[in-house]
Amino acid sequence: MSLAVTPDVDVSAEAVRRRTFAIISHPDAGKTTLTEKFLLYAGAVVEAGAVKARGGRRRVTSDWMALEQQRGISITSTVLQFTYRDHVVNLLDTPGHRDFSEDTYRVLAAADAAIMVLDVAKGIEPQTLKLFEVCRARSLPVLTFLNKYDRPGRDPLELLDQIEAQIGLRPTPVTWPVGIPGDFRGVIDRRDGGFVRYHRTARGATAAPEEGVDADRAAAEEGDAWHQAREATALLDEVGATLDVASFLAGESSPLFVGSALTNFGVRHLLDAVVDLAPPAAPRLDAQGRARRIDAPCAGFVFKIQANMDPAHRDHVAFMRVCSGRFTRGMTLVHGPSGRPFSTKYAASVFGSERDTIDVAYPGDVIGLVNASGLQIGDTLYATEPVTFPPVATFAPELFASARPRDAGRHKQFHRGLTQLEREGVVQVLRDPDGDPIPVLAAVGAMQFEVFAHRLADEFGAVTDLTPAPYKAARRTDRDTAERLRQVRAARVFVRADGTLLALFDSPYQLQRLERDHPDWCLEPVLSAGDPR
Ligand code: G4P
Repeated sequence: MSLAVTPDVDVSAEAVRRRTFAIISHPDAGKTTLTEKFLLYAGAVVEAGAVKARGGRRRVTSDWMALEQQRGISITSTVLQFTYRDHVVNLLDTPGHRDFSEDTYRVLAAADAAIMVLDVAKGIEPQTLKLFEVCRARSLPVLTFLNKYDRPGRDPLELLDQIEAQIGLRPTPVTWPVGIPGDFRGVIDRRDGGFVRYHRTARGATAAPEEGVDADRAAAEEGDAWHQAREATALLDEVGATLDVASFLAGESSPLFVGSALTNFGVRHLLDAVVDLAPPAAPRLDAQGRARRIDAPCAGFVFKIQANMDPAHRDHVAFMRVCSGRFTRGMTLVHGPSGRPFSTKYAASVFGSERDTIDVAYPGDVIGLVNASGLQIGDTLYATEPVTFPPVATFAPELFASARPRDAGRHKQFHRGLTQLEREGVVQVLRDPDGDPIPVLAAVGAMQFEVFAHRLADEFGAVTDLTPAPYKAARRTDRDTAERLRQVRAARVFVRADGTLLALFDSPYQLQRLERDHPDWCLEPVLSAGDPR
């Protein structure tokens, strides 16, 4: 059935209303809490608590998330849409586990901006650093939220230094706290110099009332806390750490906000910044580097695939980021790589395992294409005017393991699962070009292996033994060099599904020596985080 709904709205105007971003943080920094508070401030929930309640229900209905439940983590990503100040906000959740994975990176490929949440007591932690590096490499605009200021923590000036020194991103505080961590009174809004005093509400379940206070009264009422905050902001003025929209959009500086997601302090300022500062959906570059007009016919690319999300459905969902034009459910798109028509009758918005049909979408929106078993990560889909978006970056694997079914009789199930999970991008699968049947799995985070083994057993009935492989470094290579590497001990060449030849080395020193002795060999770094998308 083709829907005849083509509302008379201007695609460009809809794109301008879109804000599509991801929240990135170290686990426990407060991402879930902040998400919940965004919904509260947007009026999408009446009382905070809804996200967790939904999460709870989801765990009950979905058994493939048993692993999530065991580990108390969230592996699947969530696409949450809400409106705020007449803007459509698309929040792409990133998996929130200690082990970052390729999934997180891919979500960033579909985002136009990111919010970095830091716990004021902890500052930048290893995972955050990696994610920030990816944002930097892609010049993604990043807003920073210093969270948990209601609790004792570090001096925020010290954290600014840390951000600049470790990431090379210049923090430009837009708000500055009055009161020390643990005694948080409110913030100075540096744009007008005024004091915004916050008041707590019971359990932070409703928006925190804000009181605008002028400087004289603030000085009289807040005393030392006010004077210290003013001193700090004078220092920030002096060193030029002031909001600069151009360098923010270029991914060089980061507007910073201070708050407490738990008590709702600072949440409104941050959400306003998403609307006022973060970029709208803009023309995306195609594989040839040409910008696809925002009002060109509908086109998008797949950045994430999930299968068997819900036992009641047992299906594949491909998440497509719309890059141009108006999407209407039921329209037939062309699947770029195969040239085949793809029916979008079952387009849905997906939140965890809950889904609603989606009828119309615009640039910046994400749709879940259900029953999309023929689609792969990075595939372009378009209506009428062909385009190919660049591939979604793959990342240099750092961990390797060989995989075999424990029960040789489950060989078929094992291979079916392997192919499926490879397609979903759960792990990279490296095969021996000379026919050794035991594949080597490659990953960026160890969690990817756990998810792989769990799903193979649970969904495909093949219990898998994973044996850590000794490789310490990977390089992209070509046929000539691959031939030469045959003579080298402690190096092996594999082929990935996309045809890339990967040389793996037991020792980084050995690789260094080869690079020094054979400068003409093709041994290129695999990392492609700087991909234009
Ligand atoms: P995550 O998604 O980034 O992993 O973090 P999440 O929001 O789940 O927050 C982790 C813990 O930190 C939660 O406590 C949460 O209540 C707390 N938290 C989040 N923001 C703030 C804040 O601004 N101030 C303070 N003091 N705490 C904050 P929990 O005890 O693990 O869970 P819960 O029992 O409170 O739900």
